[in-house]
Amino acid sequence: MNAAPINEAEIDWPDEEERRTIARRLFTYSSHALGAAVQVDRIMVNHPNFKEALASCDRVFQLSRELTTQQGVIVSGPTGSGKTALIRYFRNSLPRSNLFELGHGALAVRLSKKPTVGQLVGGMLRQIRYPFPQVNEKTLAVKRNVLIDALRQKGTRLIFIDEGHHLMQQSRWRSHSEDGNSVTDCVRELMDEVPLGIVISASEELNDLEGVDQHLASRISAKHSLQAFEPGPVWLAFVRAFAKQSKAFDLSLIAEKDEALRLQKATAGNLRAFKRLVTEGVLVAADGGARGVELGHMHAAFDRVYGKDAGLGNPYVG
Ligand SMILES: Nc1ncnc2c1ncn2[C@@H]1O[C@H](COP(=O)(O)OP(=O)(O)O)[C@@H](O)[C@H]1O
Ligand SMILES: [Mg+2]
Repeated sequence: MNAAPINEAEIDWPDEEERRTIARRLFTYSSHALGAAVQVDRIMVNHPNFKEALASCDRVFQLSRELTTQQGVIVSGPTGSGKTALIRYFRNSLPRSNLFELGHGALAVRLSKKPTVGQLVGGMLRQIRYPFPQVNEKTLAVKRNVLIDALRQKGTRLIFIDEGHHLMQQSRWRSHSEDGNSVTDCVRELMDEVPLGIVISASEELNDLEGVDQHLASRISAKHSLQAFEPGPVWLAFVRAFAKQSKAFDLSLIAEKDEALRLQKATAGNLRAFKRLVTEGVLVAADGGARGVELGHMHAAFDRVYGKDAGLGNPYVG
């Protein structure tokens, strides 16, 4: 069987680190345990900052076709704070509508480290299943018009641009026309011509969108940030809501106040670290035939996630 080509623009494609974790887990655990962990891995909590950012995306989605001045949003936050998860959540929770084709109301692209306008246009054409998505400098103008027409027809209202901090490294294509040769030029054109709303999610490296493209920056109306959680009531509420959603597997241990705080310490309140540790705990527990996570499972899970010799000190000792 031929391996499918990796589509860099597909935001659900796991990165290198995630791939290694998945491979290790497939090798280590029974299918029963993996099944239990998948359920827990899917749990999403609508915590306050997440909710606010979602509401902002919703607003842009609702208005993008109605307003003449286009609206954009930036969601910024460190790695593991939930930026990509927000995009996935939004797209999965869009109701069916006859205003847009199923699955095409909001598209999402992930920028590569040195994004070009060809990758952006090609990535989006691929998502709408256009049969000839390859773009080069000669075909750019034509393909961009094809894309604009297609997005109009499908009723697309919003585009998410993930890993938006890579815009700092965007390169410009040589071309006859003055404009429209960089990723940000193209994003602006799509916003104005389709028209479309835009949500850029980025790490804090994108501190100077003005410097990259002031015309695009002027179309950004709202900024939201997702952060690691401090040890406090918001974290506690998050962990409890998370544990409560786990129906098949008992996570009541982590909902206890002291345990929730210990988890904050073990993960520095980072959601990626949190999910990795908790799902590992579920894997260990389910593999051992348990129906709920206990302290011993969390101890083993921490060692497996971070390695015994990481020198971090296992917080689940004693
Ligand atoms: N609101 C949330 N509820 C539950 N899990 C979340 C939430 N936000 C993020 N996560 C989880 O945290 C992990 C990291 O999130 P991700 O969106 O990949 O971070 P980022 O894109 O900011 O680097 C993912 O496993 C994701 O499922
Ligand atoms: Mg991400």
